[in-house]
Amino acid sequence: MGQVKQVQNYDVLSRLNHWLVAALFLAVFVVGFAAFEFMPDGETRGAMIGLHKGLGVVVLILGAWRVFYRLKQGFLAEASTMPRWQEVSAKLVHWLLLAGIILFPVSGMIGSHFGGREVAVMGLFTIPAGPKVEWLSTIGYGVHVPLAYLTLAALLLHVGGALKHHIIDKDATLTRMLGRS
Ligand code: HEM
Ligand code: HEM
Repeated sequence: MGQVKQVQNYDVLSRLNHWLVAALFLAVFVVGFAAFEFMPDGETRGAMIGLHKGLGVVVLILGAWRVFYRLKQGFLAEASTMPRWQEVSAKLVHWLLLAGIILFPVSGMIGSHFGGREVAVMGLFTIPAGPKVEWLSTIGYGVHVPLAYLTLAALLLHVGGALKHHIIDKDATLTRMLGRS
């Protein structure tokens, strides 16, 4: 973790990558929780699950590029000095979110594919259903669902941290990701 390069500021591509994938990721996340935890069986729930899976695959496609670009470019140094534990937890959360961008769709696709279900990707193409291999499907969902709760905690820290830097510390953490510094 200590070996990563550090860049001076977020370029346009980094900001576009961050906000586009963040918006799609959050949409898939919220739709997933709503459909699987709160909605009764029916047509609407079925449509939400279809949207969750299709848009999740789009996150993988855009996210693979986004994660590759961050790994290639390295991370930025912190916008201001802060206690070591804050630096470490912010970096840990960034790594967890980067991993989640790949692990969520991949684990969901493994669960679904080997559960014998196809995935229609936003009317663009369809990933055919695989053979039913129960243990592989169980592993896929066994990663997917606990990851959701871990990621929820990480997201609360991430967004809370960004707001804390902006409102309390009044540093450039948020504005430099928005392109205003
Ligand atoms: C960015 C991508 C994704 C995110 C953030 C995400 C997130 C979530 C969340 C929050 C849940 C609810 C967990 C719960 O039950 O409490 C969930 C469940 C689920 N997701 Fe995803 N997901 C993603 C991609 C996918 C993909 C690509 C597929 C399949 C192709 C998929 C299939 C499923 C299924 C089948 C469940 C229900 C699992 C179960 O209850 O056993 N997800 N996902
Ligand atoms: C409203 C929601 C969000 C806000 C306000 C927000 C804010 C920020 C800010 C201000 C930074 C810069 C931190 C720094 O330079 O030290 C950042 C970086 C980052 N954010 Fe977010 N973020 C949000 C959602 C997300 C989501 C949903 C993800 C993951 C899917 C994510 C993943 C990352 C990662 C990995 C970084 C590290 C730099 C990079 O690779 O772009 N963020 N975020």
